[in-house]
Amino acid sequence: MAKTTGTAQLTIGEKTFDLPIYSPTLGPDVVDIGKLYAQADVFTYDPGFTSTAACESAITYIDGDKGELLYRGYPIEQLAAKSHFLEACYLLLFGELPTKAEMVDFEHRVTNHTMVHEQMHNFFRGFRRDSHPMATMVGVVGAMSAFYHDSLDINDPWQREVAAIRMIAKLPTIAAMAYKYSVGQPFVYPKNSLNYAGNFLHMCFAVPAEDYVVNPILSKAMDRIMMLHADHEQNASTSTVRLAGSSGANPFACIAAGIACLWGPAHGGANQACLEMLREIGTVDRIPEYIARAKDKDDPFRLMGFGHRVYKNFDPRATVMKESADEVLELMGIHNNPTLQVAKELERIALEDDYFISKKLYPNVDFYSGIILDAMGFPTSMFTPIFALSRTVGWISQWREMIADPTQKIGRPRQLYIGKAHRDYVPVANR
Ligand code: CMC
Repeated sequence: MAKTTGTAQLTIGEKTFDLPIYSPTLGPDVVDIGKLYAQADVFTYDPGFTSTAACESAITYIDGDKGELLYRGYPIEQLAAKSHFLEACYLLLFGELPTKAEMVDFEHRVTNHTMVHEQMHNFFRGFRRDSHPMATMVGVVGAMSAFYHDSLDINDPWQREVAAIRMIAKLPTIAAMAYKYSVGQPFVYPKNSLNYAGNFLHMCFAVPAEDYVVNPILSKAMDRIMMLHADHEQNASTSTVRLAGSSGANPFACIAAGIACLWGPAHGGANQACLEMLREIGTVDRIPEYIARAKDKDDPFRLMGFGHRVYKNFDPRATVMKESADEVLELMGIHNNPTLQVAKELERIALEDDYFISKKLYPNVDFYSGIILDAMGFPTSMFTPIFALSRTVGWISQWREMIADPTQKIGRPRQLYIGKAHRDYVPVANR
């Protein structure tokens, strides 16, 4: 528990209340209003939680002004250049980089859980072929609690760890199965001789009729996408996982809730929405029309892949992702694709336009990830499932941190009620 480093005073009418202040390792001080209602009989009001810290956390830190993202203190740029996704998973889950022996053991544990219960294949077959893979994933991940009964006791630390490993291991399998099912191809079993990212590409693109060799550049790019999406502090889906978990719900149900939240276009669904927008714009000459729409207050249209709640200078993930995009496009020989031309020109115009500069709207990670995934051959509907499988480690790390926190309580926000006050029921005949 954080130590009090000061006191803030809040005066309401004639009374003044002392509120403890805590100083985090990094970031702004936090004023504790937890006892305010009991003492002062008032609630605080903060729609979208823009100024509210809902928990203590030691996992990920973002400095939106500096454009900095740290996993357990390590800058994302260093991890993206020198580490790999499974090592980042270990780091996020357990707090430290693994030794060689710990890494071997962790990799072994993850690869030994990559298959899903064979009965789950039938479950997949119940969905319509044209279901969105995110819809399938919400259902299948929630249904994991019906298959893995031996890792549902949230009060047992060992079961919590087994659930975490299972989830990290099986989410790529589930996402790949959702894809295979949607294109009418047979499911491809995981191949544990491949690395984590390569295995995912194999499960998505291999077919029984032919040999499939994973291209190391694509596998590296996929690993980077996973690494850059692994965790991101208390964003909407992570907060959803924590809120669901605060009631004591099992971990599979909590991750299913996170996937459901991630799907929205303002969050993880932005990568799909962004590529669809680039295709809809179609040609460079139509960009001004879309820029004008984005600026028009009466038009709900927003430039997808631009802006971020926290990053107000640049998104450090976007910088790394852009490099990967260049590598993948070079490998695939994609130079003059119209979508890419629109993306490059849109990026250039938006970075020079006063509206975007003054509102600090920069291309975010989703602007570039969609371009890479498209070049790799994924349909747009798979972009958000890939975000989901990458973020699973972040969700489950945050969930484990919450369950182990002795101060954790069920999440229960308050409200500013603006409905009718008391009134008497009127029988239907008299209305
Ligand atoms: N295009 C045009 N205008 C925008 C955009 C955009 N993409 N984003 C924000 N604005 C404007 C907005 O209209 C508002 O203007 P005004 O002050 O005149 O009312 C101002 O910028 C601030 O917007 P906001 O909605 O208060 O900002 P927010 O911090 O609540 O929203 C956001 C963050 C990511 C939801 C928003 O920027 C957005 O909708 N972006 C497009 C969707 C997107 O790319 N999302 C992916 C985020 S990165 C992946 C992830 O972590 O999930």
